[in-house]
Amino acid sequence: MAILPLSLALAPICTWLLLASLQTSICAVSSRIPTTLEGPFKPVTAPLDNSLRRNAVDLPETDPRVQRTISSFEPEQVSVSLSAKYDSVWISWITGEYQIGDNISPLDPASVASVVYYAIFMSGRQHRATGSSLVYSQIYPFQGLQNYTSGIIHHVRLRGLKPNTLYYYQCGDPSIAMSGVYYFRTMPISGPDSYPARIAVVGDLGLTYNTSSTVDHLLANHPDLVLLIGDVTYADLYLTNGTGADCFACAFPGTPIHESYQPRWDYWGRFMQPLVSRVPIMVVEGDHDIEEQAENRTYEAYSSRFTFPSRESGSSSKLYYSFDAGGVHFVMLGAYIGYDESSDQYRWLEKDLASVDRDVTPWLVATWHPPWYSTYTAHYREAECMRVAMEDLLYNYRVDIVFNGHVHAYERSNRVYNYTLDQCGPVHIVVGDGGNRENMAITHADEWGNCPEPDTSRDPYTGGFCASNFTSGPAAGKFCWDRQPDYSAYRDSSFGHGILEVKNATHALWSWHRNQDLYRIAGDIVYLVRQPELCPIRRYNSLG
Ligand SMILES: [Fe+2]
Repeated sequence: MAILPLSLALAPICTWLLLASLQTSICAVSSRIPTTLEGPFKPVTAPLDNSLRRNAVDLPETDPRVQRTISSFEPEQVSVSLSAKYDSVWISWITGEYQIGDNISPLDPASVASVVYYAIFMSGRQHRATGSSLVYSQIYPFQGLQNYTSGIIHHVRLRGLKPNTLYYYQCGDPSIAMSGVYYFRTMPISGPDSYPARIAVVGDLGLTYNTSSTVDHLLANHPDLVLLIGDVTYADLYLTNGTGADCFACAFPGTPIHESYQPRWDYWGRFMQPLVSRVPIMVVEGDHDIEEQAENRTYEAYSSRFTFPSRESGSSSKLYYSFDAGGVHFVMLGAYIGYDESSDQYRWLEKDLASVDRDVTPWLVATWHPPWYSTYTAHYREAECMRVAMEDLLYNYRVDIVFNGHVHAYERSNRVYNYTLDQCGPVHIVVGDGGNRENMAITHADEWGNCPEPDTSRDPYTGGFCASNFTSGPAAGKFCWDRQPDYSAYRDSSFGHGILEVKNATHALWSWHRNQDLYRIAGDIVYLVRQPELCPIRRYNSLG
């Protein structure tokens, strides 16, 4: 058994206590934090707090945090994202105003230059980098629907950066207007003793008052990197006239195409700027980011506004890619694009995983949007086809942690593979509880009357439906368990975010922070411990 360093073992821990039938959440200082070496843990369901508002309310367009505060072609919606290695980042921003209505005229992207001035903080020597720009349009060729065209979106890649170094930068067009001065820190060099201190993980964020609370709590934890596990703005809960709804399925089914109100993306970019202009954000796509247009165009806003190190990581698609952050290798996968053995994504993933040197990046983390292991009724076993196609590959390469969103609640699994407890399987963590406008998930498929009919778990975007009754184990012959499954360690229907603190090549502290708790208090906390000697990598080839 690995020895936990004393400094790691003594830390605040928040625990749930059940006292005299009163459900009370308290924070206490515990002498130790549990580790996955003690698992599998007995399944726990946190008591539901009925005082929580489950339908979050969107920030209105009148909220000062989403309004345009600059004039002319000054940069706005400034953000930083990582390339594949520590030595390169992307700076993104928008100039000019979007247009929405019947008569839109796209701006000329070439009319405003894309320039970034940057330097190591206090070093004096300034560098200049140039990049590219684009506009995208959301065109609905239907009577009465409004069209949209974006401001000019700029992306500039900075290269040759030093690891773990604070840089300042300004972006814009020097002949028109430059931004204020912003700062970011590069990731540490990759190695078994080198990690970003804190990685924030959040999913299904949206732009509500709960989102605001999530981001406030996340900022209080001072992350070095933010992972957003899909479903960014929920602009697709709106008609093009700005009228909103509370869920995708009920969002105006009678209209000729599922509409989306693109200004919500601009509101989101403004709201997030204070965080993502200084902390790099890495995004993977969710179903709400698909935004189908005429002529089957999809992901226009998502793929235009963000940058992805796809080419740098050998991927031919913005919808799946990989990158390193210190000694952690992240693979960001697409659940709404081909994933079976004959797909480009699968072949890319095989190659990417085979190329990972675990002596350099011991930790392997995979993320995609809809979970394989969630026990909530919402989206229950919806991504089973992807699990069937890809689980062996991820298991054999010993993925340590999987992060998912999509289900609007929190859940942490025991180590699991093929629905069976397995000490070499990943820990699956669902953090789809960022606080978007749709309902929180509160019912569990294992509760009486809450097991969904298999057909209702079908999602048109996930490429088929593969879930069937279990063939072995306690739920053999049934679609759902009749108690919280053994593979589910902890679940809680609250909004929040998670923080991953990798300490060394074997130990990482995972904490989950609920919006209703005090800042920096953990609602769930555990050391995730790797055991490479017990679980050696098995080179895997789909051809046998
Ligand atoms: Fe989703």
